[in-house]
Amino acid sequence: MELHRNLKSSKILQISLILVLGFSSLRISECRKHRILESSKSYSSTNCRAYTTSLTDFGGIGDGVTSNTKAFQRAIDYLSQFGSYGGGLLYVPPGKWLTGSFNLTSYFTLYLHKDAVIMGSQDMNDWPLIDPLPSYGRGRDEPGGRYSSLIMGSNLTDVVITGDNGTIDGQGAMWWQKFRNKELNYTRGYLIEIMFSDQILISNLTLVNSPNWNVHPVYSSNVIVKGITILAPVKSPNTDGINPDSCTNVRIEDCYIVSGDDCIAIKSGWDEYGIAFGMPTRHVIIRRLTCISPSSAVIALGSEMSGGIQDVRAEDITAINSESGVRIKTSIGRGGFVKDIYAKGFKMYTMKYVFWMTGNYGDHPDANWDPKAIPVIDRISYSDMTAENVTMAGRLLGIQTAPFTGICISNVAIQMANATKLAWNCSDIQGVSSFVSPQPCDSLLDQDSESGPCPYPTDRLSIDDVEFKECFLPSTHA
Ligand SMILES: *[C@@H]1O[C@H](CO)[C@@H](O)[C@H](O)[C@H]1NC(C)=O
Ligand SMILES: *[C@@H]1O[C@H](CO)[C@@H](O)[C@H](O)[C@H]1NC(C)=O
Ligand SMILES: *[C@@H]1O[C@H](CO)[C@@H](O)[C@H](O)[C@H]1NC(C)=O
Ligand SMILES: *[C@@H]1O[C@H](CO)[C@@H](O)[C@H](O)[C@H]1NC(C)=O
Ligand SMILES: *[C@@H]1O[C@H](CO)[C@@H](O)[C@H](O)[C@H]1NC(C)=O
Ligand SMILES: *[C@@H]1O[C@H](CO)[C@@H](O)[C@H](O)[C@H]1NC(C)=O
Ligand SMILES: *[C@@H]1O[C@H](CO)[C@@H](O)[C@H](O)[C@H]1NC(C)=O
Ligand SMILES: *[C@@H]1O[C@H](CO)[C@@H](O)[C@H](O)[C@H]1NC(C)=O
Repeated sequence: MELHRNLKSSKILQISLILVLGFSSLRISECRKHRILESSKSYSSTNCRAYTTSLTDFGGIGDGVTSNTKAFQRAIDYLSQFGSYGGGLLYVPPGKWLTGSFNLTSYFTLYLHKDAVIMGSQDMNDWPLIDPLPSYGRGRDEPGGRYSSLIMGSNLTDVVITGDNGTIDGQGAMWWQKFRNKELNYTRGYLIEIMFSDQILISNLTLVNSPNWNVHPVYSSNVIVKGITILAPVKSPNTDGINPDSCTNVRIEDCYIVSGDDCIAIKSGWDEYGIAFGMPTRHVIIRRLTCISPSSAVIALGSEMSGGIQDVRAEDITAINSESGVRIKTSIGRGGFVKDIYAKGFKMYTMKYVFWMTGNYGDHPDANWDPKAIPVIDRISYSDMTAENVTMAGRLLGIQTAPFTGICISNVAIQMANATKLAWNCSDIQGVSSFVSPQPCDSLLDQDSESGPCPYPTDRLSIDDVEFKECFLPSTHA
């Protein structure tokens, strides 16, 4: 983009040339309602953009064979100039757009048409190696660095990835097979990773077959994930749905997830690296989630929680054929905390465990973890739930030297699959319960009285105040 490098000398010249360019490769979005043509396609977003360009304007070819890595990166680099002038939108038309990893920019929207499929390259060189996350100290699968994520963003403000239910297909089978065969020297990439960023919206998309986790916002704030369908084979390795990691103010709603690992896993770094980095995940709301996770949790807290996890609210959740409803995973060596966790309004069908807490998860990054780093688990509230066809109601195993405290379970009706089996197995936990069937373990029974309903916060999270605007694509993209 020689032309635009020269333009940097004069902002006024830049703007006027942008306007001229607007009639060729660049199309000015019609964001004001009175200018909207009948045929314009509307979509909702946290921010509309002033400039729109199509991937085809940058040489994109949607035949499922040609590589579009350069087209994506050139289009996004080009649009990055308009951040101060209303931002840019990259339109991905119908077609199969094969690509390697690419980086996003600020004040930017990636918009997928409903028949657009972004496909992850099968050439590992298209997923360049990058540094490990500082709060993990190494890759999650293997020591050392890791492969880039397919769609990456770092140090950004105001990023939207959306579409009319268009698809991002990681084509992960190649990676799963290499992982299972222990042929990989580095950790598999994620489908979407946004780090050190603020104001992120990921909405109205279908994500399939990620090589590893699907959506990984990390060291970020003000993140909304809404209206996302995530599909991966239930036996695919580590295909977690949405993993907010050392993030503040996160809102996950209206998602449908079927995958080979946890549907949602809230994290904050791993053992000594996470403790040193010290960045908690706080103020998370999850609502209207449907999850199928036969070998993992609907909502997991941990196992990487060394920066701490606090103030997570989950409500109106449907779980089908899943291993556990809510699971806390931690270990001596993790340090950190999991506290003020509130879950209510779950409907569960065919579960191995409704509630599961694991204080001896193990799984350390290396031999340098600190045996004196004891996690604190406190104020965990579960209420207003039903579950059917359950193997075990609760398996709640704390840490002997540091029991999990402040556990409250109320108004939970669990129908056991086999009534004769042990319903609860608890150790090193303390708490109360009321109106729970079958009757919980002794450590949750208040001998003197019913404890009453468990607390659920009544204040509003600031991320719930973020509103959507009606935006319009140029009629050429309708
Ligand atoms: C997502 O799609 C639905 C249904 O088409 C639409 O009502 C909603 O505004 C969209 N929301 C976002 C955030 O894209
Ligand atoms: C994306 O940006 C990161 C730095 O944030 C860099 O390490 C990486 O190489 C970039 N990836 C690509 C594909 O350009
Ligand atoms: C991104 O932000 C982090 C945290 O502020 C900083 O350490 C890092 O150097 C930044 N990276 C880039 C490429 O600017
Ligand atoms: C989006 O597409 C997926 C996959 O085809 C489908 O299951 C889901 O129902 C669609 N979502 C909407 C809102 O149309
Ligand atoms: C992993 O490293 C080994 C030894 O250096 C090498 O032979 C192999 O090709 C590497 N595998 C991959 C997938 O890069
Ligand atoms: C109950 O759960 C078992 C697995 O534990 C499953 O095989 C069976 O189909 C379930 N029954 C119903 C009625 O969902
Ligand atoms: C219930 O018991 C039957 C017979 O012992 C067994 O085959 C079945 O797997 C059990 N179901 C569950 C969900 O534990
Ligand atoms: C409860 O769980 C512990 C730890 O997994 C196990 O050793 C014990 O056998 C279980 N108790 C029962 C009665 O199943």
